[in-house]
Amino acid sequence: MWALAVLAGWTGRDIISILDFSREDIEELFRVADEMYKYLREGHVPRLLAGRVVSLAFFEPSTRTRLSFEAAAKRLGASTIGFSSEEGLSVSKGESLADTIRMLDAYSDVIVLRHRYEGSALYAAEIAENPVINAGDGKQHHPTQAMLDLYTITKLYGHVDGLTYGVLGDLRYGRAASSFILALTLFKPKHIYLIAPPSLRVRDEVKMILGEKGVNYSETESLAEVLPELDVLYVTRIQKERFPDPKEYEKVKGSYRVSLDLLKDRAKRELKVLHPLPRVDEVDERIDDTSYAAYFQQARLGVPLRMALLALVTGALGG
Ligand code: NCD
Repeated sequence: MWALAVLAGWTGRDIISILDFSREDIEELFRVADEMYKYLREGHVPRLLAGRVVSLAFFEPSTRTRLSFEAAAKRLGASTIGFSSEEGLSVSKGESLADTIRMLDAYSDVIVLRHRYEGSALYAAEIAENPVINAGDGKQHHPTQAMLDLYTITKLYGHVDGLTYGVLGDLRYGRAASSFILALTLFKPKHIYLIAPPSLRVRDEVKMILGEKGVNYSETESLAEVLPELDVLYVTRIQKERFPDPKEYEKVKGSYRVSLDLLKDRAKRELKVLHPLPRVDEVDERIDDTSYAAYFQQARLGVPLRMALLALVTGALGG
């Protein structure tokens, strides 16, 4: 059933940054995710991970990422161990991240890690023998969210290429936003509008990659101006917890909000709004029940996508 030669490249692979993957990798992943989606819909999921243990090591808060990984692991027959905060861990007694990773590596077959420090997942991958999946390292990377975002777009439009994207919000501190922008560079978007207040503009390192890959993009402060052109609007929360100075947060708090009236006024009828969630006040709840809203579907697709990832990196598909 599976093209083993292709899948073989996934076994034991760490998932650290979306840029470590090719377009072909992503398309292969989506084919496996589609199989998982079908199994879930039919209610018969093969227990490909029976007898395996997945570590869910979440040093930072999470709802969707942690629980969709947990659901994915359990649907495939794996057990999970882990934690959702530092509380109760020996880290509070002064244990290093390295030693914590060594223990998780000894107790499980794959480690899903979220940590506030940039580079923590790469560091963990250097220590662990088993695969490490980055579930968010500080403001830097969130590759599985980006995979999920692209997967949602292929489900909605059938393709990622040729569409006009708007990415709105905290492009400076948001790892989901920058990972999504970087993920688009693997494909051929028509144009990407980076929409943010001046203090939350995308970081230079992300812009450099956009430039290197020859992606058409522009920066603006005005959603209303570019909205009529957009096929996809990706909205993100202001990352309050990552501001070095709370006063800076106060200045931009509530500085953008997508209202239903604005969409009705200026957006294409087919526009789809994505959001990695959680949302605070940046997306009007009245949008939830309209055809614009794709964020809940996006969250649901996290399970088949992460089932595919777990099955691939553990070699459970026979690769
Ligand atoms: C994001 C995160 O943690 O980076 N959430 C998620 O994983 N779905 C976005 C956020 O916290 O705003």
